[in-house]
Amino acid sequence: MPSPVIASPKILSKVNTKPYYKNGNFVLYFGDAINILEQFPESSIDMIFADPPYNLSNGGFTVHAGRMVSVNKGIWDISKGFEDDYDFHYRWLETCRRVLKPHGTLWVSGTYHSIYQCGHALQSLGYHILNDISWFKPNAAPNLSCRFFTASHETLIWARKEKKSKHTFNYKIMKDGSWPEDKIKKAGLQMRSVWSIGTPKKEEKKFGKHPTQKPLDLLKRVVLASTKAGDIILDPFTGSSTTGIAAIVHKRKFVGIDNEKKFLDLSMKRFEDLKIS
Ligand SMILES: C[S@@+](CC[C@H](N)C(=O)[O-])C[C@H]1O[C@@H](n2cnc3c(N)ncnc32)[C@H](O)[C@@H]1O
Repeated sequence: MPSPVIASPKILSKVNTKPYYKNGNFVLYFGDAINILEQFPESSIDMIFADPPYNLSNGGFTVHAGRMVSVNKGIWDISKGFEDDYDFHYRWLETCRRVLKPHGTLWVSGTYHSIYQCGHALQSLGYHILNDISWFKPNAAPNLSCRFFTASHETLIWARKEKKSKHTFNYKIMKDGSWPEDKIKKAGLQMRSVWSIGTPKKEEKKFGKHPTQKPLDLLKRVVLASTKAGDIILDPFTGSSTTGIAAIVHKRKFVGIDNEKKFLDLSMKRFEDLKIS
């Protein structure tokens, strides 16, 4: 069991809902992201990584391990129609902006099913977009229909709370760090906005898998790029808490929210497996 490195986030004393799990700097809440976040104090979070529902689970098929499988991720991922989906993205992004510190930043990941809606909502709410990252998956599944291109990337929008914010960007770590997983990144040259990172490795799923689990290498890069040690990172759609694992490994504090207990239980197992000194 990891020992706490720094005292758990003080802001949590203001939240009425009892955490589902709390161990040192790793805290999980069970419930609807918007409902839980409405209890958080204003301007209390340094960085938010959000991987909201993609709204793509609408009966299609893909390939996994050479077999045809449904793309359906779960009830939470079914589209409720264009306007309701947009309304949801607008509302959670609005709630996140309230809890973000003035110099904080927010990342949102998605495919074309959701990312343009999120981008529109972000700009309507006054966020200022810093980058859109193309996360290229060199091992993406093939396209079954052979009638259009094989989807092999997701987009991550990185935005600050407002244009005048002085956001954190660890330029040198990005440029000079070691990124062996990425065949595009050239040693000693600036980090560009196309990141080549494979889907999660087998050992990242040893406690069971989340249907849309992000690779640890992706979240490591997000955390190291945009936060400092001791910062509070929030993931309102935490799933298996890849964000939280990257946060704790790099000595940040983490708060995750999900409305499915089975994913919070998976998150706990992943956290408890960490060997933190
Ligand atoms: C795309 S997945 C996140 C996966 C995560 N990044 C990972 O690496 O495992 C989105 C998650 O949001 C959760 N979710 C959907 N709607 C929610 C809501 N209104 N409030 C909180 N969680 C929600 C789902 O249960 C799902 O686990």
